[in-house]
Formats: sequence, structure tokens, C-alpha cells
Amino acid sequence: MTYCAIDFGTSNSAVALPGTAVRLANVEGTFATLPTAVFFNVDEGRREFGRAAVQAYIDGYDGRLMRSMKSILGSSLAEQTTDIGDGSAIRFVDVITLFLQHLKQQAETSAQCSLTRTVLGRPVFFVDDDEHADRMAQNQLQAAAHAVGFSEIHFQYEPIAAAFDYESRLQDERLVLVADIGGGTSDFSLVRVGPQRAAKLERKDDVLAHHGVHVAGTDFDKRVELTSIMRELGYQSIAPEGREVPSRVYFDLSTWHLINSVYSPRRFGEFKLIKHLYTDPQHHARLMRVIERRLGHVLMGQAEQAKIAVAAGGDTVIDLEQVEEALRLAFSEQQLIEAGQEEKSRIAQAARETALMAGVSPDQVAAIYFTGGTTGLKFLSDAIAGAFPAAEPVFGDPLASVAKGLGIHAQRLFT
Ligand SMILES: Nc1ncnc2c1ncn2[C@@H]1O[C@H](COP(=O)(O)OP(=O)(O)OP(=O)(O)O)[C@@H](O)[C@H]1O
Ligand SMILES: [Mg+2]
Repeated sequence: MTYCAIDFGTSNSAVALPGTAVRLANVEGTFATLPTAVFFNVDEGRREFGRAAVQAYIDGYDGRLMRSMKSILGSSLAEQTTDIGDGSAIRFVDVITLFLQHLKQQAETSAQCSLTRTVLGRPVFFVDDDEHADRMAQNQLQAAAHAVGFSEIHFQYEPIAAAFDYESRLQDERLVLVADIGGGTSDFSLVRVGPQRAAKLERKDDVLAHHGVHVAGTDFDKRVELTSIMRELGYQSIAPEGREVPSRVYFDLSTWHLINSVYSPRRFGEFKLIKHLYTDPQHHARLMRVIERRLGHVLMGQAEQAKIAVAAGGDTVIDLEQVEEALRLAFSEQQLIEAGQEEKSRIAQAARETALMAGVSPDQVAAIYFTGGTTGLKFLSDAIAGAFPAAEPVFGDPLASVAKGLGIHAQRLFT
């Protein structure tokens, strides 16, 4: 019996295992990361996880896809039930439990032993500006970990874990700002790292500040979807009497955990009744087709892909063939930059605030360690780096740094 460390991410999860060097467990075939997704396959009467879940959904099996479950922790939704397509319902927190159970089983197969103790990563804030909800979120995650058989559970901040990963490769001491920009949260830690310091278990004095905001990758996806795809479905179009058409359906369609709510017979009926509000009947027809064909997750996936395609510069095409024959949209990095202006500013502001909180001037920061998938957005990492002119930008493994660092911390705790 031994221990592991779990990075339960909004978009991707990973498990680190101890060894002479911390290694990541194979959690889906030979993959070291697992998309945080569960599919309740009604046709086949089984549950699928990760890539297999997304694929089964895309292949058109009847059922329910759940993604970004981490972002409901601490909210009133967490304890509520949701229909899983076969007439039964499950609480959102129980979906997280099922996901953790699967992750643990995969890691145990990879480790060839049972895992009973764990370090779980957590964002700096699960919920912004609400201490009570934030504590509740951690308690819910802890209860889920307990339910799947972990008897000893510790938490560590995700960006501090990333700092430990960076530190494991350093020869000298320096002040680093960790920027962990993932799917759901952007987290920052200002940490003194170095080979001598790494030997200590207690690192309170080395952590000068940590800070975060609930703005990250999925918020950019939403902006991309609203400003491109949803416009073709009538978002922000003007009704004959001069007012904008109701926008809620477009917001729901571009929020992972609300997509399914749009498909209920009641709401479907409501959408049919508002046809007269659409000056361009084509917009309404497309919206109805998206709902009838249940294309919400597919469209969100396309918005995400378009974002990634232009993340480092360039153009792409969003192919909406499934909505309407020959419907294609051009999408460019410039459009992404415009759509994500507000998100970029909020994230870069949080980076600046982290230094302020520590009483450190920006030019004292020697390095910025970037991790998390969203650091692939060049205009965003440039904006963060621009706020710390003397800092060397260092890019870590975007999907593995946090898990590895949590593993390093677990090794110090448990041995
Ligand atoms: N090349 C890329 N360029 C830009 N964004 C990317 C790229 N690859 C992945 N992403 C985005 O990164 C995000 C996922 O990152 P990551 O796996 O680090 O998040 P997470 O750990 O699951 O989330 P969190 O830490 O917020 O809970 C997604 O929003 C995805 O669209
Ligand atoms: Mg993460």
C-alpha cells in the first residue's frame, strides 16, 4: 500500500506516483493525462471516462456527457442532481466521485499496488471572494476522495506544486512567479526556490504570496463561441420590434455544465415559440437544429479547437457543416485577442497583484514559470511576462508540472 498525488483539473487530470524520480501514472492506455470527462452511455448501459467519454459522445451514442465538473465545487449546483439520460439522476459531486474512483483504479493498475494516501491539488480559490463556499468546495473534494478509499488526504496549492517541479531542475536560488493558467482557474504563486530550500518540508517562509482568479481556458472558449459561432445562430441579433433576442440560450450553450439544460422538452418548446423574434429566420432555424441534434458539446469543442489553432498566431476555419451545409467561419488570432481582452486583463492583473501582495517590485522577480494548457495563448503569456520586465520566461510541461510537483510534495510528506 502506498501513496499518490492527484491533479484533479477542470479540463485534464493526472496522477503522480513515487519512485526514485516522481513519475506520472498511465491513466488512459499509455496517456499520462485524462480529460476530466464522464459519459453516461445510455445505449450501452455503461460509463466512460476521458478520451473514451468524449469519443463515445461524438460517435453519437445516446447519453450524457459531463465535463468541467471541478468548476461546480462550492456552488449550489454541486449537491443538486442532474439527469443522466436513462431516467435516473445523479448528484454533481457524485460524478466527481465516480471520476476519482476511475482515476484511482487506473493509477493502481499502473502502480501495481493499492493507493491509500494522497495529496490533492487545489486552486488558490475554488470560488472567488467567498471563503465559506471555498471551504465547502475543498470539503466536497475531500469527501469524494474519502469515498473512493483514500484514508489520508492532504491538500496543496496547484501553483506551489508547479514551483516544486521547477525547483527540481534548478542549480541556483531565485524568486519565481508561477503562472498556472488552466481550464478553470489562473493561479499565481511567488516562491523562493533553490536546491538548499528544496530539502525542507516546511516552506511557509518561501511562499511570499499566492493568488488566483476564476478566469481561464474555458472562459476564452466561451468568448470565442459567443463572438463567432453563436452569432450565426442569432446571438445579439435584433428582433423586428428593435430589441435584442433573448441571450440566455447562447450563454447556456457555451457553458459546459449548462448545455444539457437547453435540451429539456420545456425549453425546446419555449424556443419554438420565439421564432417571430428572429429577423433572419435562418438564425432561428440553425438554433433549433443545434438543439434538436444536440450539438452543444460539439460546438464548444469546435470553439476550443479554433482557440488552440490560432493560439500562437495564424488563422483557422470553423466548419459548421453539422449545423448547415457549407457553413464555414474564418477565425483569426486577432479575433481571439479581441474576444478575450477582458479575460487577458483580469489574468494579467492577478499576476501583478500577486507581487503587490508580497511587497515585491516587479523587477525583483527573476523568472516566470508558465504551466497549464492556457499558457499556450501567446498574447496572454506575453501580457503576463510584460508585467515583469526582468523575469526570464520559462515554459514547463503544460499538463504535467502540477501533478509532478504534487508528487514531489507527497514524497516529502509520506516518507
Ligand atoms: N496549445 C494550446 N493553446 C492554448 N490553450 C490550450 C492549448 N492546449 C490546451 N489549451 C487549453 O488549456 C486548458 C486546459 O489546461 P489544463 O489541462 O492545464 O487545465 P486544468 O488543469 O484541467 O484546469 P485547472 O488547473 O484550471 O483546474 C483548456 O482550456 C484548453 O483549451
Ligand atoms: Mg491545472
